[in-house]
Amino acid sequence: MSELSRFGVSAEEELLQNFDRMISAQGYSNRSEALRDLMRDALVKSKLEDAPETGEVLGSLTLVYDHHATDLADKMNALQHEFFNFIVSVLHVHISHDDCLEVIVLRGEIQQIRSLADSLLSLRGVKHGKLFITLPAREIVERKHAHKH
Ligand code: NI
Repeated sequence: MSELSRFGVSAEEELLQNFDRMISAQGYSNRSEALRDLMRDALVKSKLEDAPETGEVLGSLTLVYDHHATDLADKMNALQHEFFNFIVSVLHVHISHDDCLEVIVLRGEIQQIRSLADSLLSLRGVKHGKLFITLPAREIVERKHAHKH
């Protein structure tokens, strides 16, 4: 773990009050912790934008779909077998009579992860979904303190 450095930040009183209210509602106990998380999030986004073609990323794809949709289950199954080496784990929940929710944990080159996610998201019968991409922990500045969330 690296050493902690201190720095001062000037901000308008109103901005600071709004920020404090927001982070308190989010469960942060102090500004430093909230600022560190914002910095890490910005760094991950910037790294993903700067070098989108190479490097291993981690992702989770959440899908809600109607399991009655014609051929959907077969197509999803076929895609997941085709990309089996990028799929770490799949969580499937039957959330209603018609709908299923799936969370697919992915690991691999960003292009392949995006391509698999796009293929699944565009299937007929998939009602909603979103891909979340992040980086392996070693790519992000280490955390000094455990976080509540
Ligand atoms: Ni189901």
